[in-house]
Amino acid sequence: MKTLLEMITIEMKEAFKAAGYDEELARVTLSNRPDLCEYQCNGAMAGAKKYKKAPIMIANAVVEELADSKYFASAEAVNPGFINLKLAPEVVAEYLNEMAADENLGVEKEKNPKKVIIDYGGPNVAKPLHVGHLRSAIIGESIKRIIRFKGNDVTGDIHLGDWGYQMGLIITELKKRKPELPYFDESFEGEYPEEAPFTISELEEIYPTASAYAKEHDDYREEALHATYLLQNGYKGYRAIWKHIMNVSVTDLKKNYERLSVDFDLWKGEADAQAYIPDMVEMLKEKGFAHYDEGALVVDVAEETDKKEIPPCMILKSDGAALYDTTDLATLVEREKLYDPDQVIYVVDKRQELHFVQVFRCAKKTGIVKPETELTFLGFGTMNGKDGKPFKTREGGVMRLENLIREIDDEMYKKIMDNRTVEEEDARRTAEEVGLAAIKYGDLSNQASKDYIFDVDRFTSFEGNTGPYILYTIVRIKSILKKYAENGGVIDGTIRPAENDAEKSLMLQVVKFNEVIDNVYKETAPHKLCAYIYDLANDFNKFYHETKILAEEDEEKKKGYLALLTLAKQVLETCIDLLGFTAPERM
Ligand code: ARG
Repeated sequence: MKTLLEMITIEMKEAFKAAGYDEELARVTLSNRPDLCEYQCNGAMAGAKKYKKAPIMIANAVVEELADSKYFASAEAVNPGFINLKLAPEVVAEYLNEMAADENLGVEKEKNPKKVIIDYGGPNVAKPLHVGHLRSAIIGESIKRIIRFKGNDVTGDIHLGDWGYQMGLIITELKKRKPELPYFDESFEGEYPEEAPFTISELEEIYPTASAYAKEHDDYREEALHATYLLQNGYKGYRAIWKHIMNVSVTDLKKNYERLSVDFDLWKGEADAQAYIPDMVEMLKEKGFAHYDEGALVVDVAEETDKKEIPPCMILKSDGAALYDTTDLATLVEREKLYDPDQVIYVVDKRQELHFVQVFRCAKKTGIVKPETELTFLGFGTMNGKDGKPFKTREGGVMRLENLIREIDDEMYKKIMDNRTVEEEDARRTAEEVGLAAIKYGDLSNQASKDYIFDVDRFTSFEGNTGPYILYTIVRIKSILKKYAENGGVIDGTIRPAENDAEKSLMLQVVKFNEVIDNVYKETAPHKLCAYIYDLANDFNKFYHETKILAEEDEEKKKGYLALLTLAKQVLETCIDLLGFTAPERM
């Protein structure tokens, strides 16, 4: 379906044309005086120069053409030449009824769907998940759902950090603790054990211990680096340990992401790119893109128009080791080969922007990706504590994701128990569901590129611009609809033209859904979706407080209200699904 704004614009174009003016002038916008009218058109002002006429004359002529338009209750030319447009309530109601009948609530799918890969999450295997990884997961998941909702073929890839120095550290520490294991015996010929030589909690302890120890002991550090080198060059025993580390951590990661309703289509990682590195390096050398600089193999990516210096892309260190640039380039080689995407979107901390500028330029310049492949970096800001500094535990350590989630859940649990609307046995589950909304909405309601303050008290509040407030509104609608159904009511009415201001505001807000989705999609801006549902929730609550819904005596009118509530609920539920969370039945 077209958006209502598009429909009105077409109507206005006709009117400009009929009055003898260029139809391109007929741009309609939301009114900046919503007390006077819903939409406005300033085209007559723009046309004044071109036609050497007073703008009010043009406006008057256009308004005359609109006299019989079914779209407007009134179209008024006001000095010096604005056109104020008031929608006909029948048109709004009709639009809403069409939306309700459409399986996508009126949202049109992309006519030329794109194949998109979203690289998000990016946790480092065997290192604890911390709050920094939370943002990538939350934002990436929402963007994935939004782009998919518009009909594109989207694949989410977690892109694990599974090939780095942390692996060498774990191997070294394991060797120190259990030298008798067969993995360290170079002459071992048999089958390695199927069971991992550690549990997840041991693994979680091994990494930080080894990492701290290596900082103090050079020989240990050297050994870990060498172990990393051996692993990357295919030493069998270390490969076997690596597989154990992967199995144990991926199982744990899956649990964590499931708790966050974050769902990856691909669980690939840096290790998968390794196989593509030798040929890629060969190609870069052969075609003359790469050259040696102080022993390292690099590709220049600076451009004449650069305002600041962009250093070369690093392909190989002087000892022949691959780097972060190398892995990301080789991953693009793999993605081109296996998926042939139209676009690859990276949702990563904005402090990594330079790295992606280098990688994108190098990939384009060397033909690793096709000229038309879109490479997009979506950098997000830092999540800070109330003191404005990166989020820490009370003791000042790095906050682990699990602990942060637990803190929110406990807070939600207390509030839900206080409300006494949920049975005790359901309260934990409900707290988790509402807690997730608190975290995700708290994050997504800020523009992604900006830093924001993670404020547990504010995010968990049932009032104000918060996830719980949005859920509370949905629960309120659900309970009205449920009550009606329990008394034998059937929702089979149609939405009727608005009769008062609160109803009108609510209806106009629901009408905007289609338009909002298009903007959110074009600008990849989930925060605009949050702003929209906050407005919608406010308009609904105002309507709810001013209107007798179930007590309405006029049966047709009551059914009209219930149809409107049903649609508002569908819109809200669709939006929160696109943000990555759900609403409970009660809270
Ligand atoms: N593992 C990386 C980190 O924790 C993030 C990976 C981002 N994605 C990528 N393709 N480089 O910093």
